[in-house]
Amino acid sequence: CQGGSDSASPAGTMAQSRALLLLLLLPPQLNLGPVLAVRAPGFGRSGAHSPSPEENEFVEEDPVLVLSPDEPGPAADCPRDCACSQEGVVDCGGIDLREFPGGLPEHTSHLSLQNNKLEKIPPGAFSELSNLRELYLQNNYLTDAGLDNETFWKLSSLEYLDLSSNNLSRVPAGLPRSLVLLHLEKNVIRSVDADVLTPIRSLEYLLLHSNQLRAQGIHPLAFQGLKRLHTVHLYNNALERVPSGLPRRVRTLMILHNQITGIGREDFATTYFLEELNLSYNRITSPQVHRDAFRKLRLLRSLDLSGNRLHTLPPGLPRNVHVLKVKRNELVALARGALAGMAQLRELYLTGNRLRSRALGPRAWADLAHLQLLDIAGNQLTEIPEGLPESLEYLYLQNNKISAVPAHAFDSTPNLKGIFLRFNKLAVGSVVESAFRRLKHLQVLDIEGNFEFGGVSKDRGRLEEEEEEEEEEEEEETR
Ligand SMILES: *[C@@H]1O[C@H](CO)[C@@H](O)[C@H](O)[C@H]1NC(C)=O
Ligand SMILES: *[C@@H]1O[C@H](CO)[C@@H](O)[C@H](O)[C@H]1NC(C)=O
Ligand SMILES: *[C@@H]1O[C@H](CO)[C@@H](O)[C@H](O)[C@H]1NC(C)=O
Repeated sequence: CQGGSDSASPAGTMAQSRALLLLLLLPPQLNLGPVLAVRAPGFGRSGAHSPSPEENEFVEEDPVLVLSPDEPGPAADCPRDCACSQEGVVDCGGIDLREFPGGLPEHTSHLSLQNNKLEKIPPGAFSELSNLRELYLQNNYLTDAGLDNETFWKLSSLEYLDLSSNNLSRVPAGLPRSLVLLHLEKNVIRSVDADVLTPIRSLEYLLLHSNQLRAQGIHPLAFQGLKRLHTVHLYNNALERVPSGLPRRVRTLMILHNQITGIGREDFATTYFLEELNLSYNRITSPQVHRDAFRKLRLLRSLDLSGNRLHTLPPGLPRNVHVLKVKRNELVALARGALAGMAQLRELYLTGNRLRSRALGPRAWADLAHLQLLDIAGNQLTEIPEGLPESLEYLYLQNNKISAVPAHAFDSTPNLKGIFLRFNKLAVGSVVESAFRRLKHLQVLDIEGNFEFGGVSKDRGRLEEEEEEEEEEEEEETR
């Protein structure tokens, strides 16, 4: 606004009168002092601790529940060393607390107690806090014995509870029914009993990754009736099979980095709503994947089987997936018809296997009418695959042993935008330039690291370096 001071401008006046209105609506017993600041938004998930680098290993973006953007400020009736605001935000995070703080204001709606040294929560500590909606207790030393089945029970408005990075070995009993998001990751949890989660009918997100769960530790009825539960993180545990009794409405299931050796016929027989299934970095072998295992997963959009021990692309893969990743297995073949009927597939990753050209007949891709990206880098191909679908836009073939680009190599794929042939065995005379002539949309053609005339040893060295780098990157990504 030009010229006028803030208070004179219409916006300024409005903000002021709104602040005044707020003041008038507040309970009269509150001593507000000089606090009349207009709140800054963007506080978001108050008290979320930023993980240390080693904790940070393959952290998914945790689901964020932003309830209200309050900032703590001074107020009366605040525990020692904590900061409180009249909106009910109480911040006692990171102040070396060993004992639970007394004198919490009754209207507390957000309570931050993370990054302290709490081993227990005394009985009745939360019994007055019926307005509490978010409770942050991550990064303490809480043990099973430090909580009882009534610790959280009275928190009838609690929607967000973070108990991650503590010393819990089981899911605490008596959690409030109102919870929407429950963080329990990075504890030492070995068991989820039958009736600890089932009363939490509002639960949508359950984060149990980086614990010590084996399949037996999860009671088959543990998730029964949790109709809103759509996101379950179980990665980095010790599951040796897919746990039975998965929540029926689960849409995202992250079960990577466990020790699962196979997928049984009934493992996913009731999870009709599954959209994203990540089974990467387990120990799944081809004979252990039942050919009907995925039959009910009609809504599945993304399946990740990377980092397992598959030697053929198993038959019976879900037909409607858009993204299929089978990187870093031991694939030497695609089972006959493995990709049949996958007309929805957009992206297929077969990177880092042992596929040879003869394992990929032109019929392999016949049904992939919407395939846009095909990644077969890091295999043992000697030729550019034939019969690729017309829809294809990106073709990754680097780090193979391809020795020629014949004139008709890309006749079936006029829509290619990127071709990656880096580090193959192309020789100068073996690339027919006219092969690229029809590719009107081509933006990237990467053929570096070929044509080894003369500087053989130099190129070799570079190739190895590059492979190592890629491996490191990949490991970073998946650790
Ligand atoms: C807690 O456990 C005690 C003893 O087993 C039981 O009497 C009580 O009803 C339980 N409370 C809740 C809230 O489950
Ligand atoms: C909590 O776990 C840490 C690390 O696992 C351990 O050093 C500590 O002794 C445990 N504390 C309690 C109270 O069990
Ligand atoms: C599966 O999880 C890993 C690790 O977070 C991730 O890199 C990968 O992209 C996921 N797969 C899919 C298909 O999203």
